[in-house]
Amino acid sequence: MKIVLTTPDDWHVHLRQGEALESYAQTHATGFGRVMAMPNTIPPLVTVEHLVEYRKHAESAASGLTVLPAFRLMPTTSAEDVAKLAQFGVPAGKYYPDGATTNSSGGLVHWRQIEEALAAMEEHDVVLSIHGENPSAPVLEREEAFLPVLAEIRQSFPKLRIILEHVSTAAGVHYVMEDQGPTAATITLHHLLFTLDDLLGGSLDAHLFCKPVVKTAADREALTQRILASDSRFFFGSDSAPHPVVKKQSGRAPAGSYSAPVLLPALAQWFEEHQALEKMQPFLCEFGAAFYGYEANTGRVILEKKNWEVPELVDGCVPLLAGTTLSWKVLRREG
Ligand code: DOR
Ligand code: ZN
Repeated sequence: MKIVLTTPDDWHVHLRQGEALESYAQTHATGFGRVMAMPNTIPPLVTVEHLVEYRKHAESAASGLTVLPAFRLMPTTSAEDVAKLAQFGVPAGKYYPDGATTNSSGGLVHWRQIEEALAAMEEHDVVLSIHGENPSAPVLEREEAFLPVLAEIRQSFPKLRIILEHVSTAAGVHYVMEDQGPTAATITLHHLLFTLDDLLGGSLDAHLFCKPVVKTAADREALTQRILASDSRFFFGSDSAPHPVVKKQSGRAPAGSYSAPVLLPALAQWFEEHQALEKMQPFLCEFGAAFYGYEANTGRVILEKKNWEVPELVDGCVPLLAGTTLSWKVLRREG
């Protein structure tokens, strides 16, 4: 038995920087054609020059991968900065609330700090990609506590395309469904598979610790229902976020799960278990491209039904689902 997909997109991924970027990009290229790379690198991706260099580095390391890096919105980002980035065809700018997640210090304290940049993004039709958590709220309430900010931004910029990244709660799903403007959300594999009990109900699983943290079964069900409804506002963004094993096992684990090595097989298994294999293609290959205004990719990725055991270590990181057996495997990528 096989699954044939138009080469999928991943609309939210962390490829990091330096030498490590090369292996992370290569791993992603085994299953994905186009990725939106997040700019919380060190230093952050803010200028056209830096974005061009970053893209070149990643694409030369991983043949067949189109890397679209988002720029990071800083408190100092001006309307002129945005105009320049837009002129260069940069598709998205990323909003990190200050301290909300890995490498987000120096981020935004209030959206009005970038009011002019947001106006320019609306004018030039650049997508606003948001890590939607209020870091001063209790950890499980951070996404819900951020939703009023989304509503305020929407009210000020009715035409701005906004993505609530890695939506993790029923409240976030509800917000996106009700929003009257062009708002969408990405959904990760780990928020579809796991809940808080998997993270810390038994022993603490540092490799499953990510931001936003995985939530309750009811929250997970809300995400599931949007995908099963084939709602085009909800599309795939893995938030695959590699951290070297030594850091993860240091006792102060940074947030981020390295899901890249298992994404397509685990998603195939998820869609099969939900008797919805036909909904895999739009979620992974069509809805996100349409929201961003791109054509779907032209190649294909073929998966076969075959058991394989997920290795304990890939690219120096412990991958999601390490040591478990998955029932689908990527057979090959064509084009
Ligand atoms: O868990 C996460 N890790 N969430 C993010 O938003 C950032 C990411 C990272 O860069 O490691
Ligand atoms: Zn992320």
